[in-house]
Amino acid sequence: MNATANITNRPEWNCIHTNDSETMFPTNFAWGAATSAYQIEGGWNVDDKGPSIWDTFCHKGGRLVFEGQSGDVTCNSYELWEEDLRCIRQLGLTHYRLSLSWSRLLPEGITRHVNQKGLRYYNKVINDLVASDVLPMVTLYHFDLPQALQDQGGWKSPEIAAIFDSYARFCFESFGDRVKLWITLNEPYVCAKLGHEDGIFAPGVKEPGMAAYLVGHNMLRGHARAWHSYNVLYRAKQGGSVSLAINSDWAEPLDPASPHDTAATERYLAFTLGWFAWPLFVTGDYPEVMRSSIEVRSKELGYQEGSRLPRFSKDEPSLLGTADFFALNYYTSRRVKPGECCPGVLGLKSDQDAEGVVDPSWPVCGVSWLAVVPDGLRKLLKYIKDTFNNPAVYITENGFSQVGPVDMDDFKRCGFYHDIIQELARALREDGVDVRGYFAWSLLDNFEWADGFSVRFGLFHVDFSRPERPRTAYRSGREYAGIISKYRSQTMVNI
Ligand code: GAL
Repeated sequence: MNATANITNRPEWNCIHTNDSETMFPTNFAWGAATSAYQIEGGWNVDDKGPSIWDTFCHKGGRLVFEGQSGDVTCNSYELWEEDLRCIRQLGLTHYRLSLSWSRLLPEGITRHVNQKGLRYYNKVINDLVASDVLPMVTLYHFDLPQALQDQGGWKSPEIAAIFDSYARFCFESFGDRVKLWITLNEPYVCAKLGHEDGIFAPGVKEPGMAAYLVGHNMLRGHARAWHSYNVLYRAKQGGSVSLAINSDWAEPLDPASPHDTAATERYLAFTLGWFAWPLFVTGDYPEVMRSSIEVRSKELGYQEGSRLPRFSKDEPSLLGTADFFALNYYTSRRVKPGECCPGVLGLKSDQDAEGVVDPSWPVCGVSWLAVVPDGLRKLLKYIKDTFNNPAVYITENGFSQVGPVDMDDFKRCGFYHDIIQELARALREDGVDVRGYFAWSLLDNFEWADGFSVRFGLFHVDFSRPERPRTAYRSGREYAGIISKYRSQTMVNI
């Protein structure tokens, strides 16, 4: 039985685990936690910061975000960074993944106008981390486009790729002497689909079957330019690595004997993981099955105006090879069958023609989409190894949420971290996947996008009702600290 299958029936769990005495990790394994700027910083309009699309989205009112909440203050990390550092040190992290707020650094999105106080803030954060022996992994973009750029078309506009590149160069130039792990963009799938197809994330665009492909395309173009800039201008002197964080579920056929379910699973993975990983790791272009599915659907609908999935131009920097490692955000798994979406509808779901279902044996934690399937991570890692030519992999996000009354003694989450790390160990040891690090989502409870503060992912509880925003370790935070300390004291040779 899956170790977590009856997670909800194990109240006796007390965070003490057995049978893992053989688990070992490489000495330089990255033990991290992650956050993002909009979700934790607050200070949305102080010290010359420009607004981002999430500021605009939240301030629109209506029912866009749970109870009309916003990230205006959230954990107030802009003021309380030293409290975050205390949490990071308490966990014994070797790495911390944070994102930079583009519009805090460049209020209008372009380098003509730099906010010196924003620059000073991030310099302090990075210096403090390095002085504490914690290596920063820095994401340049985590969903929060400067509003000034959205006003010029945002990610739908082809010009955005060059603008992103110049922001990326500014960051490499400013921080690259100390930052050696870079993520250009976090989860382009989510920006494209939730932000431009479903309209439930900023900027709230609803143009099904059209905008998401264009946005994904321009994000990839921007990423490629930034990677090439780093490669040519900074790699030799700074010696870092650059990648793009790709989110994906693990997916397997609902009925493994059904060729329809198997084909649907292939499409499911192609339209999430493959969409962004294929261009970087395999061909420099989208997965063939993605392109052909979109073409077939376009024909059925009588759509005439060329392909809805853009083509990469030969005159632009190539995508292939523009990831120095595989950055994976993994949360959940699905069993897959052909879609039930009516064929007459223009949209990504109908193009994909695949429906993911939650296996009834999987416990769901907090939010409905989050079925807890630790061994899905191991399977996905094996798939990545086999499909993308055995890349070095960092799990850049993974976590377990809590909703409802706060439970500081979160035994289920303790068990979850234990199980997922066992799966990681198996991926390393038994499957030979080159896993380099693991970043728990998240260091702190924070603003969980459209769910506001109703969903808590933190290793530290944050009391949002008090102005000082006190941070207190959950039991799972202490458990994760214990896991890190245990594995850091062991060594592993020749995995
Ligand atoms: C990811 C996202 C994070 C966080 C997490 C939990 O998609 O990158 O910002 O919100 O999901 O839902």
